[in-house]
Amino acid sequence: MVERDSSVAAVVLLAAGSGTRMKSSTSKLLHPLCGKSLLSWALGAAEGVAPEKLVVVVGHLKEQVEAHLKEVAPHALTAVQETQDGTGHAVRCAMETIEGVTGDIVVTYGDVPMLTGETLRRLVGVHRRAGNAVTVMTSILDNPTGYGRILRSGNDITGIVEERDADDAQKAIKETNSGIYIFDATILRDGLAQLKPDNDQNQLYLTDVVGYAVHNGHKVGAYIETDRWQTEGINDRAQLSAMTAELNRRIVTGWMLEGVTIIDPATTWIEAGVSIDQDVVLWPGTILCGATSIASGAVIGPDTRLTDVEVGAGASVVRSEAILAVIGEDANVGPFSYLRPGTTLGREGKIGAYVETKNAQIGDDAKVPHLTYCGDAVIGAGTNIGAGTIFANYDGTTKSVTTVGRNAFVGSQSVLVAPVHIGDDAFVAAGSALTGDVAEGELAVARGRQRNIAGWVTAFRDRTRGKKAASPAPTQGEGTSTSTDKE
Ligand code: UD1
Ligand code: CA
Repeated sequence: MVERDSSVAAVVLLAAGSGTRMKSSTSKLLHPLCGKSLLSWALGAAEGVAPEKLVVVVGHLKEQVEAHLKEVAPHALTAVQETQDGTGHAVRCAMETIEGVTGDIVVTYGDVPMLTGETLRRLVGVHRRAGNAVTVMTSILDNPTGYGRILRSGNDITGIVEERDADDAQKAIKETNSGIYIFDATILRDGLAQLKPDNDQNQLYLTDVVGYAVHNGHKVGAYIETDRWQTEGINDRAQLSAMTAELNRRIVTGWMLEGVTIIDPATTWIEAGVSIDQDVVLWPGTILCGATSIASGAVIGPDTRLTDVEVGAGASVVRSEAILAVIGEDANVGPFSYLRPGTTLGREGKIGAYVETKNAQIGDDAKVPHLTYCGDAVIGAGTNIGAGTIFANYDGTTKSVTTVGRNAFVGSQSVLVAPVHIGDDAFVAAGSALTGDVAEGELAVARGRQRNIAGWVTAFRDRTRGKKAASPAPTQGEGTSTSTDKE
């Protein structure tokens, strides 16, 4: 309902600027904020007003921006602005792409990521209820430095002046232009056609369309946004960091209100794509990234980063790193475990201290508790892998898989040289270097047999003491006195 009422003919998203203050070879718009690029956040807001046409104006590093758009918004149209001759010029470029479109056109920026679709819908609502030709989103800022100022006569907007073109009285105005507007398409087109670069930067200013509309007797209004973060643009990495902290604070607060216990919100980082069930506990230093999901009752942290990980109900993950892994219900991971892509741990399974896993399916109730490398492995339910076991999966050229059946037991410090298969209920003696298969129920011993030599120590000591006694003096060198060593 709301969506349909506030849908617009087009959104124009300006994203051609150079973003030099980021000092980056990556387009500013591709820098991430809580798990999504600045541009995808901006696109998310644009989608909030269900535009029939979505036009992104690209220019600086446009190949990067276009490639990213193909991934995150394949339906978006692009308009190329070859030289960055100002915001008015940028919108002119966009209008060529959507020639003939009538109705309402929203203009917004690619580098204002905290703006929400809900706020744009409110802007549309204010605009339509007032019957405006142009509505500007404004903010009242204690420090308005750098922004265009809103000029009013009484309550009526008369224009926008840029900081660099403003006189002292205008600079004192605290109502600023957010750069987000909604225009009637025809008036926007006419206004753009009239623009002249008569300003300090010799650019075509979109802000002058506001003055144009006022001048020609069209109704111009403002929508004042009180959440200053929603209109804040990102220009450098210090601003990006401050905004990351603010957005994270909001995300973390949101999860707490959904029933997640977060011990220390200041050191807990949760990206936008994460989902968390009720009664999950997050200890300090927990970082949840990508499409991670945590089921109810799980306890994560301290000092744990999970990226695209699925954690089952009641599981515990302590001081660990995991990427593209699935951790089963009531399973235990950590401390100090490293789960690489393709790891799946079954219900009540365990991956313990100093264990690295990769492409490893570890069954229900199976345990890899200590000091193990477990790569390219399939381990059956109930099996125990002893401390220090190495799954030797790589021969320098190819990688091979090791399979271990159910309820098997691999003794400590074994090396399983893949490909190798260990059957159900089989045993591998500690210290084995296994190169062949072990059938169900068999014991494999693949190491030198223990030999005890009676009396050896006494003989050895007598021998070495005799050696020392025979040495005349240390200065003559012990290495030369071999005469007493008759054996
Ligand atoms: C602009 C507004 C100012 C407002 C401020 C809010 C104008 C003349 N001024 O100023 O009133 O307070 O935004 O942040 O509009 N862009 C292009 N092509 C261009 C120039 C800019 O695509 O040729 C894009 C940029 O990538 C950016 C946005 O437009 O996303 C704003 O450009 P920017 O140079 O930051 O505008 P300001 O000078 O800050
Ligand atoms: Ca700016």
